[in-house]
Amino acid sequence: MKELLITHARLATMRGGRYSMIEDGALHAKDGRIAWVGPTSEVASARISEADALDAHGALVTPGLIDCHTHLVYAGDRAKEFALRLQGATYAEIAQAGGGIASTVKATREASDADLTTQSGRRLDALAGEGVTTVEIKSGYGQHLEGELRCLRIARGLAAGRSVSIVTTLLGAHAVPPQFKGRADAYVDLVCNEMIPAAAREKLADAVDAFCEGIAFNPQQVRRVFEAAAAHGLPVKLHADQLSNTSGAALAAEFGALSADHLEYTDAAGVAAMKRAGTVAVLLPGAFHFLGETKRPPVQLLRERGVPMAVATDCNPGTSPTTSLTLMLNFACTLFGLTPEEALCGATCHAAAALGLKDRGVLEAGRRADLALWDLGDPAALAYAIGGKRPVMVSTGQ
Ligand code: NIG
Ligand code: FE
Repeated sequence: MKELLITHARLATMRGGRYSMIEDGALHAKDGRIAWVGPTSEVASARISEADALDAHGALVTPGLIDCHTHLVYAGDRAKEFALRLQGATYAEIAQAGGGIASTVKATREASDADLTTQSGRRLDALAGEGVTTVEIKSGYGQHLEGELRCLRIARGLAAGRSVSIVTTLLGAHAVPPQFKGRADAYVDLVCNEMIPAAAREKLADAVDAFCEGIAFNPQQVRRVFEAAAAHGLPVKLHADQLSNTSGAALAAEFGALSADHLEYTDAAGVAAMKRAGTVAVLLPGAFHFLGETKRPPVQLLRERGVPMAVATDCNPGTSPTTSLTLMLNFACTLFGLTPEEALCGATCHAAAALGLKDRGVLEAGRRADLALWDLGDPAALAYAIGGKRPVMVSTGQ
């Protein structure tokens, strides 16, 4: 994209963690960057002549949406487990009986690279169809060195031929593999001594994540993973306090994590620690809904303490089989009590912060020309619809 001038738009700039609307606004982008944002009445005529001009006729423009937490590289599905859960089995019981993450690891290992790429690409395309221009993808269904690196490579490769940015996260410490049953520490050794160094060396991961939970890794093991990540210069994130309070949020904050995610069981001390560390709270209402969870994350505390809240799909086969980020905006409001404004911040400016990205998520001069144009006037309409909103146009500045 050389130049773009949008006029007569309702610009939800998302500056300062608010809509920060510019009514009848204009945006001028040049060489992939936003050059100027302001009222249409102040557009200099010189700017119009060269630009590729677009009259939005009052339609809404937002930053391109950001899905900051997905596990979308996997094969197969877990429909059978869904049926079991509906009959009363819990997620944790299924995992302990050898199902859960382990069953997706098996399906993923058995899939060819081409098949895994096709299945994952479909999910990515579905997200992108809703105006998502940046997607974080975690590994975690490989569970040995080559398997984890393969998932990261496939994730990175999905960007080819698509106008979507991919950010990758190594989630080697997702579950204890069956062959390491009773020897979780030995598996953590593998994550720390082989997976993290290899992912860093091959520049396959932008961050490192772990699942801190009774059915996964304890805080001491997560600490080792985080120390190894720090030693290799990789920022960290954490699946924290999803099924029980393990003080995961505080642990993530202690390591200056970009984000702590899920947080259903996080307490006031965890929220305070996140505030001190500048750790973003990533809320995942799809998993909450799908698991029939009743304990909500401490949204009011997060709000009062001023911890930025992001919202993401958690796209994965076990707890959140969805590819609709706009559905998650609706769920964040209806299930967690976010306002539509907070929800949209959660998929734009705060989601960018959860990924450590400073160049997108807000419409202002100097940032990427990364935006979506919607056939909507009110920005609350994005969270109002029960999913499935599609933009009229997106630009990623490419
Ligand atoms: O974010 N909590 C751990 N990981 C995923 C679930 C992965 C799975 O069940 O396959 C989550 O909920
Ligand atoms: Fe997750």
